[in-house]
Order: sequence, then structure tokens, then C-alpha cells
Amino acid sequence: MGITLIAMPFDVLAPAKVNLFLNVTGRRDDGYHLLESLFVFTGLADRIDGWSSELPHIHVSGEFAAGVSADQANLVLQACELMRRESGVAKPMSFCLEKYVPVAAGLGGGSADAAATLSALNDYWELNWPQHRLLSLARELGADVPACLIDKPVIARGIGDELSPAPALPSYALLLANPRVETPTPAVFKAFARANPAIAARSLPSLPAGWDSVAALARDLAARGNDLLPAALSVTPGITPVLEALRGCERVAYAGLSGSGATCFALFATDEDANAAGEALLHDHAEWWFWWPGKIMG
Ligand code: C5P
Repeated sequence: MGITLIAMPFDVLAPAKVNLFLNVTGRRDDGYHLLESLFVFTGLADRIDGWSSELPHIHVSGEFAAGVSADQANLVLQACELMRRESGVAKPMSFCLEKYVPVAAGLGGGSADAAATLSALNDYWELNWPQHRLLSLARELGADVPACLIDKPVIARGIGDELSPAPALPSYALLLANPRVETPTPAVFKAFARANPAIAARSLPSLPAGWDSVAALARDLAARGNDLLPAALSVTPGITPVLEALRGCERVAYAGLSGSGATCFALFATDEDANAAGEALLHDHAEWWFWWPGKIMG
């Protein structure tokens, strides 16, 4: 009797990022924008299961499955193909991707999926590649993928792929909300480029070694802001009421736009404050998408 070997699957999370501030500092000849941005990662995540199989395959489920292609265009399969090419591992992989991070929403969902796949396959195939090797593959998959690979607060410069550790952060909680309108990143950068044909050199407020309170962090976030906000509003006007509602929450320290939107975040000192604000907003705006630390996701 033949023995059938069933490959054990791996199972990893791909956390969503939030840009607490985002400044555009220039534009390269290839059209990519130079940025300075503070990335943090959240408890909201996609889940990826993977196992070795005869043919490459991906099955996508979860609330936002409809927004993601289940073919070679999927960043999980692209990351896997890149790792196979680089490593010479012949056997294809199958994946189940549970999509809980809204798509085209400024939360880096696709980039997080790609980064989690690179790092999971490095373990699954026992390649033991050092982080700098994974980072250079991450760069090939998208400007935000290197930050997602680090998965810790970072300051990103260059086109978003030159990373340094973020100033020390106080403990904080985020409430996320969007109007459920997909807002593709290229459309927002195009609108930004139309409105800003030249980007004047300017000196940005310097960053401290750390913030010892949410109030201090909020002051600096307000000084930096998100330079993509006007362009994002021109693509998705429905961001305005979401941002206004977040700014009006009780005990909110700061509210802003993440990345190219349309997701906005509100910053609080505690999970309890974020949860209370989330429950109140959901009551008034059941049509919007929300996440907060204690929310049970459907
Ligand atoms: O690298 P990624 O595929 O995530 O970028 C999506 C699009 O966003 C790019 O094609 C480019 O139009 C725009 N972009 C940019 N400057 C960046 C990052 C992205 O103009 N730093």
C-alpha cells in the first residue's frame, strides 16, 4: 500500500498598516513619489494558510474576498512565485486567504499579504534567508511591502521602502473607519500630481526620540498631517463625513487619513475609549466599515 504524504499547512496573520502621518517630499523621474511617513501596525489582519501542492492555487474567503483576484495577480501568489524563482523550490503551493482588511483602502492589505507570504515561505522551506534578502524581494512587490515585512512601527522614506525605527510610541488605541468606497492608490497619486505639478522643497518638523503621551504624539501628527488628503478627497468625497465623525468622537486625541485612503483613523489613549467611540459611531453610521481593538469582526 502506498503512503500518501500530506504536507502540513502553515498559518500566518498579515496585519494592516496605518500611516499616522504622511508627507510627500518630492517626485522621481519614474513618477513615484518620495515620502516621509510613520507606519504602525494594527490587530486587524488577513489570515493566510499555505501548503505544498501539485498546482499553484489560491482560494479567497472573508468579508472582502470579492475585492481580490484569485489568480496570478494576487500578491500572495506573486510573492510565492518570486520566492520559488529565487530559491529554486520546485513544488508549487496552495493558499487560503481570509480577507478581513478592506481592499484599496489605505491599509496596505495586499502589501501585508505579500510580506506575510515571503516571511512564511522563508520558514516553511527552511531557507533561513536574512531579513535584508527578504526586504529586497519585498521591494519588487510594492512600495509598502518592505514596511509590512518589518511589521513594527517604522519611519519610511524614499518611495516608502527606506526604513528606520520609529520614535518610541506611548501606548495608544486606534479606531478605523471608511465609507466602503474602494480608493485605488494610483488614482490618488495621479490626482496629487495633477494638483502639484512641482513639489517645493520644504523642511519638515523634526521628530523626537520618543513621545511620552498620546497628547504629545497627537500634537506632532497634527503638525505633519497627510499630504495626500486633498487628492484622496477628490477621488472619494465620502471621506469627508467619516473624518468629521472621527474628529467629533469623545476623548479623541487626533484623527487623520491613512495612506491614500479612504480609511481614516482616530487616536485614543486607551482601548476602552476607542471601543466606546466605535460603538457610538456604528450606531449612527451602520453603512460605514469600522474596526477597533475589541470589535467582533463578522
Ligand atoms: O508600489 P505600489 O504598487 O504599492 O504603488 C501603487 C501606485 O501608487 C504606483 O503605481 C504609483 O502610481 C503610486 N505610488 C507613488 N509613490 C509611492 C508609492 C506609490 O506614486 N511612493
